[in-house]
Amino acid sequence: MSADRDDAASIDRLIRSAASYIAGGVVSLNRKVEPDITFVRAAGSKLTDIDGTEYIDYHAAFSPHLLGHNDPGVNAAVVEAIDRQESLMGTGTTPWEVTLARLLCESVPSLERVQITNTGSEATAHAIRLARAYTGRDDIILMLGGYNGWHNDVARTVMPTIEQIGPRVSPGEYPVLPFSAGIPQDALRHLHVVNFNDSDSVEYVMGERPIACVLVEPVLQNIGVVLPRPSYLARLRELCDRHGALLVFDEVKTGFRTCLGGYQQVCNVTPDLSLFGKAVANGYPMGVIGGRERIMRLFHDPDPARKTLIAGTYNAHPFTSAAAIATIERLRDHGDEIYARLDRLTARLVAGLTEIFSDRGIASTTPRNGSAYCTYFCDHAPVDWHDIAANHDFELDRRYRRALIERGIYQFPQPCKQGSVSAAHSDQDIDRTLEIAARVVGEL
Ligand SMILES: Cc1ncc(COP(=O)(O)O)c(C=O)c1O
Repeated sequence: MSADRDDAASIDRLIRSAASYIAGGVVSLNRKVEPDITFVRAAGSKLTDIDGTEYIDYHAAFSPHLLGHNDPGVNAAVVEAIDRQESLMGTGTTPWEVTLARLLCESVPSLERVQITNTGSEATAHAIRLARAYTGRDDIILMLGGYNGWHNDVARTVMPTIEQIGPRVSPGEYPVLPFSAGIPQDALRHLHVVNFNDSDSVEYVMGERPIACVLVEPVLQNIGVVLPRPSYLARLRELCDRHGALLVFDEVKTGFRTCLGGYQQVCNVTPDLSLFGKAVANGYPMGVIGGRERIMRLFHDPDPARKTLIAGTYNAHPFTSAAAIATIERLRDHGDEIYARLDRLTARLVAGLTEIFSDRGIASTTPRNGSAYCTYFCDHAPVDWHDIAANHDFELDRRYRRALIERGIYQFPQPCKQGSVSAAHSDQDIDRTLEIAARVVGEL
């Protein structure tokens, strides 16, 4: 038996014992899907499973790998940080956190000051606490179909059924459907869920309650790709200003996908606070919270009654900071070329898919935000989750994704999950994907 087959057999034994050691058999239970494939390697645009089968990857681990998996330049920067014996000192300012913070502030104009966390969820939790401290208010507005992490203030069901949400509500609020047990009723009382692209509902809630912040992904990318209507984000800005609430953009998914300035640069709306994660360190764990100095200064306010806690043993860890610095410097120095390439490849993919579905008479639409895209099986680009829940063919989506995976194209096997093209994808990857998609769609 070759060493590889020995390895595969021992990994296979290990995986079969997963449920004996891991609660639920997989870490982070949103990864528990069918087919349950064990991937053991990833490079560039490809994933390799335990049997040695290669897949062209469009899942990108829920989208951080903007430059592709295991980007050699980013990995080299991490190895150099290890070789330089940079350590987690846990005392005083480090050179790498200053470099990283400077790069972030130079890249995204609305970031006057930043703090670094390990995950996007930590960043959204800090933003909500900061908004509450700054405004002295407890209530927040969230979007139906948005995802902002796992903590009590944001853990509402992302993809509820029509039966759960009932008829369309506008202007008004949807019921808060907790995504988890264990959330105190008291926490839910402060949450207000409205439809994306519905600023009248935001205005309605602001008229009813004092609101600390509106937390919004500028493009909903946890239910595919739902783009904002042309004036929607500007209206949110105006409503927040009028009612004394903070506008918080959760750019954990949109950030660095379209350009280094975030989606806020694309839509030309300046939030008070922004959150980044995922692509910022190309797959290494990191979250960023940043924004106006007058708000961020609460993190070090001399008045103990106003000082807002931010802490974390591993915040700005040297190895993840090295990854983020390498990623941002690459995007800064070669952004024109990288973003043009991402745009061209994704446009080709979307045009090809559109033609395939149209040729087979299947109603479909594939909206995209830069290199993020999603096919919906309905006759128009959805404007919110209610629209998707009512009109998308979930069963067809499930079968389509499954059939692609069986032929070596990895899209997350759950309906409405966003696809991501990386800078490591090639024209050949797109050609092959379209060739397989045409075959698959013919057999659906
Ligand atoms: C928009 C958005 N915000 C926040 C988060 C939470 O980030 P993390 O999983 O790093 O905690 C996610 C994760 O998918 C996300 O998509």
